[in-house]
Amino acid sequence: MDVWQWLLFFICICVKVTQTEASSWTIDVPSSVKGLLGSCVVIPCSYNYPNAKVQTFTGIWTNDGNQVIYHPTESKMLEQYRRRTKLLGDISKSNCSLMIENLQQNDGGPFHFRIELGGYNSFSYLNKKVSILMIREPNAIDFSAHEDIKEGQPVSASCSVFHSCPTYPPAFHWSHSGEQHFQAQKLHDGQWKATSILTFRSNRTDHNKLLQCRVTYHGGKHQETSKTLKVKYAPVNVKVEYQSDVNEGQTAHLKCSSDANPVSSYEWHSETGALLNKGQTYTMSNVSRHSEAVYCTAVNEEGRVKSSTVKLNVLYGPDIETYSKCSSYNGIVKCDCIVQSRPPSMVHFVLGDRVLQSTTVETAGSVTTGTLQTDFGSFKFVHCLANNTLGNANLTLSLPVNDNMQYIFIASGTGVILLIILIATAVGVKKCTWRSGETPPSDLSTMKSERPVAIPHHAPAKRKENYEDAHYTNYHVYGNVGTDLDESVYANV
Ligand SMILES: *[C@@H]1O[C@H](CO)[C@@H](O)[C@H](O)[C@H]1NC(C)=O
Ligand SMILES: *[C@@H]1O[C@H](CO)[C@@H](O)[C@H](O)[C@H]1NC(C)=O
Ligand SMILES: *[C@@H]1O[C@H](CO)[C@@H](O)[C@H](O)[C@H]1NC(C)=O
Ligand SMILES: *[C@@H]1O[C@H](CO)[C@@H](O)[C@H](O)[C@H]1NC(C)=O
Ligand SMILES: *[C@@H]1O[C@H](CO)[C@@H](O)[C@H](O)[C@H]1NC(C)=O
Repeated sequence: MDVWQWLLFFICICVKVTQTEASSWTIDVPSSVKGLLGSCVVIPCSYNYPNAKVQTFTGIWTNDGNQVIYHPTESKMLEQYRRRTKLLGDISKSNCSLMIENLQQNDGGPFHFRIELGGYNSFSYLNKKVSILMIREPNAIDFSAHEDIKEGQPVSASCSVFHSCPTYPPAFHWSHSGEQHFQAQKLHDGQWKATSILTFRSNRTDHNKLLQCRVTYHGGKHQETSKTLKVKYAPVNVKVEYQSDVNEGQTAHLKCSSDANPVSSYEWHSETGALLNKGQTYTMSNVSRHSEAVYCTAVNEEGRVKSSTVKLNVLYGPDIETYSKCSSYNGIVKCDCIVQSRPPSMVHFVLGDRVLQSTTVETAGSVTTGTLQTDFGSFKFVHCLANNTLGNANLTLSLPVNDNMQYIFIASGTGVILLIILIATAVGVKKCTWRSGETPPSDLSTMKSERPVAIPHHAPAKRKENYEDAHYTNYHVYGNVGTDLDESVYANV
């Protein structure tokens, strides 16, 4: 051989060697893969063969006894593997990954791959076998969630498991709604880590609730785990519990309650803002009708929340207002008896020995006004009686001087008789004056401003108008003088 021939020979050898090393009969398959009984397993696999022109690819998996556990022609397979095994990848692209479903106890192997390349060669990769390590139960779920969360903040919880069947990864189910993300992470030896991440906005309604993650593997096996959610939130439903009705002078017990995490502490304030007490309860002793309304504030690290304002319904017996009075207008006499009480009182009147119902009764809050309108005859006084469940009260009201009475100057102490004589004279004068149809003398009001004056009402009918004017003035005079004086004056009569 000449130099050229030698050179060609070496080139050929070199090319051949390179080719053999790059594409010889090699396989990449783990020696062992974990598999969950009843579930599925995927044996990752890729093979190589010497570079050659290949027409057809037939991938076969066999066990150590050369029994076929996978073959594209099902009839060539062991009975117990039919419809349970499947080549996953593209066999013509060096992918020999095998899936076995419904894993049985005796599916452990070892197994090896054989390739039959139509128009070239066949090869069994006996040097690299794979076994399946059977697992009866899956590993515990790896669960993580934030322990202490504040209401309104986003919560994320994650749940992850290992498996070896990426074709049918485990399914995750969460007990709480939210956004779910699935992550698949490839590990070594056919192992995968599947993770589900749930994110949601925390709510106080979640406090003390179980957050559960349930994992279901292909084939039906499942497992679950849970964690109790702890959500911090500002007080809600802050309210005061109390007995509304309380008698004046008694003691009222108020209790504040709220829903909060962590539990609230409490403060009590009067309506005007003064701090009254700290603590869940507040005792108001000797309550009175003037006792201020109060509210409580529930406080925790998340916030301060006020209750609504509470006003006790303080019950007390009637007090008759001293400005209660009888008055006359257009010849009609009526008596208003104004009573402060809770609950509202019944208001009666006693005229002589007769007990009379109020003609009308008006109630506005704690004020009851009983009005009597009747023929008072010649009575000078009427008694107003008020009673409720807690007591009763009475007040004597003076009636405007009766029409049937003579004109009299009422005066105290001495000189009564003298006055009567003077009055008689005056009456005579006035009767004359009035009969002439003129207005009553202007000095009448001046006189009355000194002392209460009673004006009779038995003048002729055509004078009625004038009398009424006089009477009306009289009423105002009484109004100015006041009840106490009236009473003392009458008492002297
Ligand atoms: C083989 O095929 C399977 C299924 O299509 C695929 O998941 C895997 O990644 C492939 N393997 C290689 C080495 O390409
Ligand atoms: C909590 O849930 C309730 C009812 O589901 C809702 O009305 C409220 O707005 C939620 N609170 C927050 C802070 O998301
Ligand atoms: C209760 O209050 C009233 C006034 O509101 C007062 O006159 C009375 O002395 C008080 N009684 C006690 C026992 O404090
Ligand atoms: C007030 O007294 C009358 C007569 O004694 C009685 O019938 C009535 O029930 C009393 N009313 C109340 C509210 O106690
Ligand atoms: C009126 O009240 C007084 C005490 O305030 C009481 O002694 C008297 O009996 C009462 N009279 C009537 C008619 O109720």
